[in-house]
Amino acid sequence: MIACIGAGPGHLDFLTQKGARLVREADVVAGFDAVVDVVRPLIAPEARIVTMGYRDQVARLEEVAELHHAGQKCAVVFMGDIHFSGFQYLDRVETACGHQVETVPGISSAQVLASRGRVCFDETTFLTFHRRGDLTPFKTHLREVLRAGRNAIVIPRPWDFMPRDIATYLLAGGASTAHRVEVWENLTRQEAEWTGTLTDLEGRDFSDMSIMLIRALTPMPTGLEGER
Ligand SMILES: C[S@@+](CC[C@H](N)C(=O)[O-])C[C@H]1O[C@@H](n2cnc3c(N)ncnc32)[C@H](O)[C@@H]1O
Repeated sequence: MIACIGAGPGHLDFLTQKGARLVREADVVAGFDAVVDVVRPLIAPEARIVTMGYRDQVARLEEVAELHHAGQKCAVVFMGDIHFSGFQYLDRVETACGHQVETVPGISSAQVLASRGRVCFDETTFLTFHRRGDLTPFKTHLREVLRAGRNAIVIPRPWDFMPRDIATYLLAGGASTAHRVEVWENLTRQEAEWTGTLTDLEGRDFSDMSIMLIRALTPMPTGLEGER
């Protein structure tokens, strides 16, 4: 048995009970170091821990797949929710295993940001640039989202398409300088928040644990009766 589990964007409080049970019962727990560290208190003392980084992930996942094929219960932990900016890693797990695996959704950093910024999903589009490959279609989509009057929650790509680069790209494409922006770092941990406009982002640096909310110029009507 092998399951891929969304493990909260930084804190155990944001792991589902199902995810926690699967980690507790696992013979093997695998994932990137920072994510394994989040679930470490739950891992059985006799369980094997396989940590990895970007460079050795393919080799380490092959190790995990071998243990899974040998009948060990394996839990691969993902940062936040698997379904937002996690599919390339999921592909690697499934390639190593040679078949589809169970996925257990988690709480995304995007959901935590939506809560901090008090925006609803209905009026907000989620986009990630934290992926390998050509970013062009995603960049174009971001422009369209803002033109359509929606908010955007955006994961930057360390280090070539960070918040300042995203702002430069949008402004060059004609986006209004008046868009309000929030950049949050280390959500659910030692949180830091920056607020300003797209123009104010020029020259500002953020860590790789940052996520942006770009607000629509005008909030959408609530649709409720009596609204002014
Ligand atoms: C590969 S993406 C994975 C996103 C994850 N699947 C999710 O749902 O949050 C990694 C990026 O997500 C963002 N991120 C993840 N956790 C975060 C947190 N606690 N605070 C701020 N940003 C976070 C950062 O931009 C980080 O570089």
